[in-house]
Amino acid sequence: MSSVQLDFSSLEDGKPQKLSLGDKDVCVARIGQEVFAVADICTHSDASLSEGEISNYKIECWLHGAEFDLRTGEALTPPAVEALETFAVNRDGDTVTISSK
Ligand code: FES
Repeated sequence: MSSVQLDFSSLEDGKPQKLSLGDKDVCVARIGQEVFAVADICTHSDASLSEGEISNYKIECWLHGAEFDLRTGEALTPPAVEALETFAVNRDGDTVTISSK
C-alpha cells in the first residue's frame, strides 16, 4: 500500500490540489475541516479534475461538466457514468496521509 503525506494547512478550502501517489495522480480537496481524495483523471476522458470547481461536496470537471461526489467518487451527472477511484484520508493534527484503499 502506498501513501503520501501533506500538511493540512497547505490545503486551501475549496481549492483542489493534485498530487502523486505511486504511479497515480490524486485530486485532494479540502472542504472546511474535511479532506477528500479521488482519482485526478475524469472517468469520461483525459481531464485533470484538480483544475475543476468544487461546490457542495462535488467536483465538476472543467472539460465537459461532469460532476462527481468527492465523498464516494460517484459520477453524478453526464457525460461521466463511471465512478472515480477514492483514496483513504487520515488526519493527525496538521498531517494528512493519503493512501490507496
Ligand atoms: S473529460 Fe470530464 S466530463 Fe468529459
